[in-house]
Amino acid sequence: MKKILTMALIAAMLLSIAVSAQAATATATGAGVTVIKAADWAATYPEIYASYEKNAENEAVFDHVEEYPMIATVYEGMAFNKFYNSARGHYYTVQDVTNTGRPHALANCFTCKTPDFTAKVNNEGVSAYTIAFEDMLAQVNESVSCYNCHANTGNELVVTHTYLADAMGADFEKLNPETASCAQCHVEYYFAPETKAVTLPYDSMETMHPDAILARFEEMQFADYTNPRTGVKQIKVQHPEFETYMGKGSVHAAQFSCADCHMAKEEGYTSHYWVSPLQSETIKASCVACHADLEGFVKGIQAKAEERTIAIGTKLETLTNKLADAVASSSYTEEELEAIRSLNRKGQFYWDFVFVENSEGAHNSRLTHECLDKAEQLIDEALALFKA
Ligand code: HEC
Ligand code: HEC
Ligand code: HEC
Ligand code: HEC
Repeated sequence: MKKILTMALIAAMLLSIAVSAQAATATATGAGVTVIKAADWAATYPEIYASYEKNAENEAVFDHVEEYPMIATVYEGMAFNKFYNSARGHYYTVQDVTNTGRPHALANCFTCKTPDFTAKVNNEGVSAYTIAFEDMLAQVNESVSCYNCHANTGNELVVTHTYLADAMGADFEKLNPETASCAQCHVEYYFAPETKAVTLPYDSMETMHPDAILARFEEMQFADYTNPRTGVKQIKVQHPEFETYMGKGSVHAAQFSCADCHMAKEEGYTSHYWVSPLQSETIKASCVACHADLEGFVKGIQAKAEERTIAIGTKLETLTNKLADAVASSSYTEEELEAIRSLNRKGQFYWDFVFVENSEGAHNSRLTHECLDKAEQLIDEALALFKA
């Protein structure tokens, strides 16, 4: 009883937190835009510029392949299985995309790395996506910067990656601009098979749910790569922070924008040092009324999600190896193999949706566990189809 009352009180408090009344807006395209560089704003916004430069401190890189050995098998058939490093700061995006160790053919890899490419797409249209990677590299001046989120206005939030507006449809205007600015890159996407243009696999808030995304990929018969040993046509999910945080089950989606938790409101300006809320005393202070120990609370959620992600990922590895053996043997009909492949494809999708999401369960633990439940069920179903 006491617990229920407390939760109701907290819910009422949450509802009273101001929600931005502003709507997201997208940039005009086709104009001859020249990107104003970050350094050119330094004199106008010295504090913001200094906080932006601080992103250079976020330089640590972790090798995910070493940390999660199952991905050498699960991602076999795409270069991620050998080179897959953790994310670091916005400051290093160009350096990181150039040094991934994964081969790059086209400029579309620059989509979330530099405003110089964003402006190129806005100026020239989708044909920019098929420029050779090296040709574009020669035209790149800086990593993620002011233009990406403000166009050349310096202080207004403008969506410059117009595929986001396309994917949101009528819901675009309902988006908080401070969330929309991050959703330009922290999203699941694919390269459209014909144009190689970055495309998000949905057309409204509703169809952003992993079930709907998978249904769309099924309908398109879309695959990023084929596992060479099993023949499974796999989907590589990419950092779906936006879809996860805004998804059903999210506690804070209606109250807090991405910036509320990742950009500290310092005295007189907003910090542009993008960090985990656990790394900022200012942000933690804004949560303390409800989360006396934010760090302990978040770490607890993450530990539970991580434990299951590793356990189910290991099961997926077992499934992959067993399926590879089954393919190599002659004891299965093509129809039997296809049934297992289909379950493997879907199970891997749900697992990946969690594995590559950067909050490790903190953004929306309900959705995280829902995806893990689905992944586990599909993998178990597949494992049950092997002959003794
Ligand atoms: C133009 C693309 C782009 C936009 C817009 C963008 N990000 Fe990022 N962000 C990235 C990329 C790419 C990385 C990974 C960097 C790497 O490892 O090279 C990243 C990494 C991060 C990290 C991890 C930093 C670390 O040290 O581990 C945080 C936090 C983050 N972004 C928050 C945000 C927030 C909040 C917003 C919106 C205000 C935002 N991002 C908007 C591209 C973007
Ligand atoms: C209610 C607070 C909250 C909101 C709102 C929020 N996040 Fe987070 N985010 C977190 C927490 C907590 C973590 C885990 C931090 C950690 O592990 O240190 C996290 C982690 C991340 C990371 C990984 C950071 C790192 O250092 O590795 C990225 C990237 C990120 N969030 C992006 C976003 C984006 C994009 C949005 C909006 C769609 C968003 N977040 C909204 C709380 C939030
Ligand atoms: C990844 C997206 C992103 C990038 C890159 C970015 N900003 Fe911002 N900026 C924001 C967001 C989000 C806000 C609004 C913060 C809020 O109100 O919560 C903001 C707010 C501002 C404001 C309004 C005043 C304030 O302090 O809130 C100014 C001015 C500004 N940014 C300047 C810059 C400059 C200059 C750069 C480049 C050095 C830059 N921004 C790069 C996302 C970004
Ligand atoms: C008005 C109270 C309130 C404030 C302020 C508040 N939270 Fe929460 N938060 C909650 C409640 C209630 C829950 C749900 C707790 C649960 O599920 O056990 C929650 C859950 C969370 C979760 C876990 C979400 C999940 O899906 O499991 C994170 C992460 C989080 N809050 C971060 C923050 C951060 C960061 C701030 C400050 C920017 C903040 N919260 C401010 C009340 C609040």
